[in-house]
Amino acid sequence: MVKRTLSGTSLETLVSLSKRRGFVFQSSEIYGGLSSVWDYGPVGVELKRNVKDAWWRSMVRERDDVVGMDASILMHPDVWVASGHLESFTDPLVECVECHRRYRADQLESDVCPNCGGAFGEPRQFNLMFKTFMGALEEAANTVYLRPETAQAMFVNFENVQTTSRKKIPFGIAQIGKSFRNEITPGNFFFRTREFEQMEMEYFCEPGTDDEWYDYWINFSMNWFKSHGIRSEKLTLRHHDPDELPHYSKASADIDYEFPWGWDELETISNRTDFDLKAHARKTGKDISYFDDQQKKRYVPFVVEPAMGADRSVLAFLADAYDEEGEGKQRRVVLRFHPDIAPFQIAVLPLSRNDRLVPTARRVYGVLRSHFNTQYDDSQSIGRRYRRQDEIGTPLCVTVDFETVDEDDAVTIRNRDTMEQVRVPIENLETAIRDQLDLMRADSQG
Ligand code: GAP
Repeated sequence: MVKRTLSGTSLETLVSLSKRRGFVFQSSEIYGGLSSVWDYGPVGVELKRNVKDAWWRSMVRERDDVVGMDASILMHPDVWVASGHLESFTDPLVECVECHRRYRADQLESDVCPNCGGAFGEPRQFNLMFKTFMGALEEAANTVYLRPETAQAMFVNFENVQTTSRKKIPFGIAQIGKSFRNEITPGNFFFRTREFEQMEMEYFCEPGTDDEWYDYWINFSMNWFKSHGIRSEKLTLRHHDPDELPHYSKASADIDYEFPWGWDELETISNRTDFDLKAHARKTGKDISYFDDQQKKRYVPFVVEPAMGADRSVLAFLADAYDEEGEGKQRRVVLRFHPDIAPFQIAVLPLSRNDRLVPTARRVYGVLRSHFNTQYDDSQSIGRRYRRQDEIGTPLCVTVDFETVDEDDAVTIRNRDTMEQVRVPIENLETAIRDQLDLMRADSQG
């Protein structure tokens, strides 16, 4: 149970590790960066892909009551009128009359500007949707919005998806995709950004069963994080007070994670009732309802929604995995990711670049990469390479040495967490790796 005693870390350390090891870079860095916009590097992109794949597996592929879709970011502008986002998707904004910095009024701890001590002007509601224009003319009639949530595409496609998938209620539609919000105060690395990816699922159920499904999806979501390695003690559930409910919600709960700066929102589960389907039916004049042929009745389904940020989850996985141990030369930084989340599962390391080792090392790499996400790493000393793989959280390193080619056609597997090494014949390597990864999976349940 290695994960339980992790050292934890500061946000600054995560920012610098992310840059040093190729997890996350600031966008347009050589131009001085673009505020609160981030790019994933070669290691980060693997981590994020694994997070999204793990979610998709649990949410869609391993269930027969949820199907997927992938909608466009741009939608008909009336979608946002009907959904209430044009009118209500706002935050209260105040501006300092001296330095003109802007803040969210509901997040301020004092009534003077934290930057210069100046007074604030009158608060006003600021709509968070990004606007752009479709077609050649930049005029109001051509205004379209970058979607602030992926959910609406699942509502407007409800009938298309239901009829083509022949799903009966209860069933869900899941989607992973970009959303955009012109946040007044983004920050904390890539925790709150203006462009981000969401993983959302809209679960359509019979009115009256919604409270039960709401509890079900809260438990499912909490368990998803734990079963992918987030420690239980770093997760908590927070029910929204009535005055903080989103405009579409009857009940919402946040799964909060203890980030380096404190507890903050990771995912929101909401009971959206029939708010969205009815709103789109009203606006389009179309009947968006469902005929239950067993009960012989027609109704507008209620919707329960687990809505998660892919990027925010990546940040939580990164923060949760971070550990430092040892002293002096023995000191190491190690990211103790669950094996399904780790950017790479295996690194193949020839002891050196000696010509006698390379063919065997490449052969082993060729075999392993078809089963596991595998990196080939042959630069610098073996000790440094182990440290580097520890810092990106690779669970197992496979080392090819002279004994391999001269004597036993066997390799060494080094375990990231225990640093124990075992010698395994190449012909048994795949099975031995699967066994070790299974043990590490079991060990890193939150
Ligand atoms: N469809 C419902 C919805 O969008 P939300 O609570 O506003 O609900 C869901 O967003 C999740 O999306 C959040 O819990 C968070 O993980 C992520 N998210 C929202 N705004 C974000 C931002 N500005 N930057 C990064 N992630 C964000």
